[in-house]
Amino acid sequence: MKWITYNERTRVFTLRTRNTMYQMQVREYETLIHLYYGADIGDTEATHRIVCLDRGFSGNLYEAGDDRTFSLDVLPQEYSGYGNGDYRINSLEVEHEDGSDAVHLRYEDYKIQEGKYSLTGLPAMFGDENEAQTLEITLYDRISNLKVHLLYSVFPELDIITRAARIENQGEKQVKIQRAMSMEMDYTHKHMDLVHFYGRHAMERMTERQPLHHGVQSIESKRGTSSHQHNPFVILCDRMTSEKYGDCYGFALAYSGNFRCEIEVDQTEQTRLVMGIHPYHFSYRLEKGDVFETPEVIMAYSGDGLGRLSHIFHDAYRSNLIRSKYMDSPRPILVNNWEATYFDFDEEKLFRIAERAKEIGLDMFVLDDGWFGNRDTDTKGLGDWYVNENKIRGGLAKLVEKIHGLGLKFGIWIEPEMVSEDSDLYREHPDWVLRIPQRHMNLSRSQLNLDITRKEVRDHVMGQIFKVMDECKVDYIKWDMNRSVDNVYSAVLPAERQGEVFHRYVLGVYEMMEQLVQRYPDLLFENCSGGGGRFDAGMLYYSPQIWCSDNTDAIDRLKIQYGTSFGYPVSAMGAHVSTCPNHQTGRTAPFETRGVVASAGTFGYELDLEKLTEEEKEMAKEQIRAYKKMEHLVQTGDYYRLSDPFKNQDHVLWEFVSKDKKEVMVCGVQLRNEANPHIHLIYPEGMDEKRHYQDVETGAVYTGAALMKAGVALPLGKGDYQPVRFHFVMVD
Ligand code: GLA
Repeated sequence: MKWITYNERTRVFTLRTRNTMYQMQVREYETLIHLYYGADIGDTEATHRIVCLDRGFSGNLYEAGDDRTFSLDVLPQEYSGYGNGDYRINSLEVEHEDGSDAVHLRYEDYKIQEGKYSLTGLPAMFGDENEAQTLEITLYDRISNLKVHLLYSVFPELDIITRAARIENQGEKQVKIQRAMSMEMDYTHKHMDLVHFYGRHAMERMTERQPLHHGVQSIESKRGTSSHQHNPFVILCDRMTSEKYGDCYGFALAYSGNFRCEIEVDQTEQTRLVMGIHPYHFSYRLEKGDVFETPEVIMAYSGDGLGRLSHIFHDAYRSNLIRSKYMDSPRPILVNNWEATYFDFDEEKLFRIAERAKEIGLDMFVLDDGWFGNRDTDTKGLGDWYVNENKIRGGLAKLVEKIHGLGLKFGIWIEPEMVSEDSDLYREHPDWVLRIPQRHMNLSRSQLNLDITRKEVRDHVMGQIFKVMDECKVDYIKWDMNRSVDNVYSAVLPAERQGEVFHRYVLGVYEMMEQLVQRYPDLLFENCSGGGGRFDAGMLYYSPQIWCSDNTDAIDRLKIQYGTSFGYPVSAMGAHVSTCPNHQTGRTAPFETRGVVASAGTFGYELDLEKLTEEEKEMAKEQIRAYKKMEHLVQTGDYYRLSDPFKNQDHVLWEFVSKDKKEVMVCGVQLRNEANPHIHLIYPEGMDEKRHYQDVETGAVYTGAALMKAGVALPLGKGDYQPVRFHFVMVD
């Protein structure tokens, strides 16, 4: 099947996936015009959608002469330049040697190839010739001879199209890129809502849906990371779109640094979205022959609502973005000592937790912050990645041997991008941090960002960490990052390249992570940035899971995990049972409920197992057994959001359905109990209407249609925050 075609006569490019279509056309003056993205429209080329009109104050190209109907100010484009009469937000802005900044991109040629393109040093989806096809369209600016190669890969079976831009200076003179977006999407005549995911530390990815307004709005991060505050995943959808019905488009930037998604509704009710690296503190100098590659945007369209859109992203990430061998195999269920001990532990305490972990059936012990240097508090020690033998007497290797001896795996916490002022590393190399000359550095959690743009810094840190990992035979790494990037200036870059620091920092992080995953192919790697501050598609290329939030309160997690699930698979969300009253909120929820919420992710415990009561121990054993039985649903099933925690005050429910529809699990929490209660019916989704399903607990048998259309009653609660769990299996 030809998924990408070019019609020589009409000059229309058509990209197809199983259910979607994307079209563009080379038009007058070699302008690449966007025609259509959405449901499959058969063999029609949507050229009829382009209506050219003479519009006041929207200028025209000089070569158009008296024809005032072809204006770049209003026509939908694929990748807009600057200073060519288009006053909307644009994709590319440059500064030429003479100080001028116009760039007018015209079509030059195209290439179609089997398989997926890749990007140098950047995360991206992968796919062989059976999975993906690539279209490369080259645009160029006649005056500077700057070339822009627009990269499109289609993944037909996944209903995914990816985009990126490769910018090449083929001119004689230097060019400075001021803004290079990864993609642009122009919609004609659409009134849409924007769904995005904002938040803060410990309350990440809250969901907000707002109608687009005239003018420009943006979702962005300038913190050097993708951030807790805004996530580089957004959805545009029709006003009527719901979980089950309607048109929606998802855009995910596979990048872990500063980003901007800008959306403009223009004078003629058209919508333009651009997404890519934030232009703030960004420039990139291209000498003759140099190339700059933007990060990738992963796009999908669903005509069947937001639920289907999420399934597309979940499946795509699981099959063609996450590389870990743990993607398809059961993850060890862990206990992490952070909330159990914080910095206050010794080897005996750690071993006792490990012994209890073994007793209740856990698979791995994870040693969090505080094992290295003089790290007794969070004010010191970062950068000194050697074992603190005052705390871990006899050395870490010996402790790990004992833990391995219990039959448990062993994991450890690191924060490689950071340094404390009170550390040997900082005393030896005070010039290795990001610091603006003559200015005080801004501190955050008493720590500083290392200048990760520098190879010698990266190699030093990773060398130390690899030594510990080799000596201790580490099975799992939690890579943390506990402050935003600031003091942005690298001592080794010339003045005219300081605009590259943020981006080079991110490339440096990716290079370190790549070294880690190449050197330890069997490692389970979990990302983290103060919980979920770097929860993005870029990070999933390196690690199959990310610690979802520092907030372990099961009730707050309902919102955090709900918001995260729009763009990311549940199998990527680190979720643990912690103690009560909860350390972040002081709230108390039943142990079982904490288990149900943490089971909607990569499951584990984060509490002092020594303090569990006998009853809790038995419950934990049961939770672990139950998770092992349902883990395949978390890892490979379809995930449905059955209720919205931002709207529903009574209960929050979600559901897993195996791909073959034979097994279904509905889980959730009843938030509030009331006297003389209503009966709440719930309606599972995604089942086979005609087949029969048995409720594993009660033995009752229903048709799929009965469950989905007539519903099933929630059990009556016995208090607030009660757990809900239904398990149905197909019986015919
Ligand atoms: C971050 C992480 C926590 C924990 C602490 C340790 O906040 O998100 O899980 O590892 O750092 O300092």
